Amino acid sequence: MEKIRVLSIFGTRPEAIKMCPLVKALEKSDRIESIVCVTGQHRQMLDQVLEIFHITPDYDLNLMKDRQTLTTITTSVLSTLEELLPQIKPDIVLVHGDTTTSSSAALAAFYQKIPVGHVEAGLRTYDIYSPFPEEMNRKLITQIAELFFAPTENNKKNLERENIHKNVFVTGNTVIDSFQYTVKENYKYKNDKLNKIDFSKSRFILMTAHRRENLGEPLENICRAAKRIVMEHEDVELIYPVHLNPAVRNTVFSILDGTERVHLLDPIDVEDMHNVMAHSYLLMTDSGGLQEEGPHFGLPVMVLRTETERPEAVEAGTVALVGIEEGRIYDYAYELLDNQEKYMQMAHAVNPYGDGHASERIVDEIVKWKMNKG
Ligand code: UD1
Ligand code: UDP
Repeated sequence: MEKIRVLSIFGTRPEAIKMCPLVKALEKSDRIESIVCVTGQHRQMLDQVLEIFHITPDYDLNLMKDRQTLTTITTSVLSTLEELLPQIKPDIVLVHGDTTTSSSAALAAFYQKIPVGHVEAGLRTYDIYSPFPEEMNRKLITQIAELFFAPTENNKKNLERENIHKNVFVTGNTVIDSFQYTVKENYKYKNDKLNKIDFSKSRFILMTAHRRENLGEPLENICRAAKRIVMEHEDVELIYPVHLNPAVRNTVFSILDGTERVHLLDPIDVEDMHNVMAHSYLLMTDSGGLQEEGPHFGLPVMVLRTETERPEAVEAGTVALVGIEEGRIYDYAYELLDNQEKYMQMAHAVNPYGDGHASERIVDEIVKWKMNKG
């Protein structure tokens, strides 16, 4: 029987972290021929992930530019895939989540009338400007996709509200699958700065912030609040792997560099990241993915945004939507550091994002879909 040609297209760090476990599962299936194309929307941060999963892409569009714009990413993806897709001739293209790589790859596939499967489908904030442009990217992909892999029942309901009822599968989030590749006992970090940190000496706040809508004043607020918190708690240290975007780095380094007990790092690879999480006390982030990972490690997560597309974790009590005002961030972190009861409530909530078998479910559904389609 002819194998199903499944082309996975991704390009940024978070897509790679969540697509690599799926690529591994696709490779294991004897019914599938797995083909990988990376756009290289991110370069170094993408390559870090590919290395860990030992995945060598079959195609690499290598399109990252310094301070690239949404338009340049979109047009490069569209024009390169217009040439490439007719050569590859996939039966289905898989895209992930909400990046510009994902929405433009989905559109490129649609132009060739190739069915699209959307991994991590059905997340919504209902504000097209927050996160920007991700909320619109999600909506666009929903219009194009034929198969929808929704991490949670709530994501499925969001799709149903938009009259999407066919081929919607609740699978869990593939990020949980990734832990089996990354989390290890007695782990030795690749970033030597992490090996020099004594994790038993202090309580560690792990922080990341990079979102486009937080650039400028919100990011300044976040950094100032973090600085005050650390300066006022002698037993607290901050680890902040700083995104490579120059617009992020300028702000972060100008406020936090040189502060005692603050460790500013270059982006660490996902193996280092997950193992740091396992030894941290509190997570402060504007990231999407980290809201799903924190609960797995029993880490309270303070979300440094005004909305979240992950209400399940807020309902479960492990994630708090704290916002981007300096005073509020400071107060909330202060409470979690000083009020043990509140801390324990958040630390012991249950992770709603699945059992680590999402990738296998997605592979099964692709095989069934193709059999029914003939
Ligand atoms: C992108 C995604 C966002 C995701 C984020 C994860 C879009 C619109 N945004 O935003 O959804 O949360 O990735 O990190 O798709 N850079 C490097 N090396 C790298 C990566 C980035 O130097 O490996 C620098 C480049 O100067 C680049 C800039 O960062 O131009 C911004 O990258 P870009 O992908 O455009 O935006 P992100 O903010 O990373
Ligand atoms: N991450 C990482 N190294 C870092 C910062 C984040 O490996 O220095 C991982 C993190 O564990 C999560 C993913 O990157 O899996 C989140 O990506 P990001 O915050 O860039 O994007 P988002 O999830 O917000 O789209």
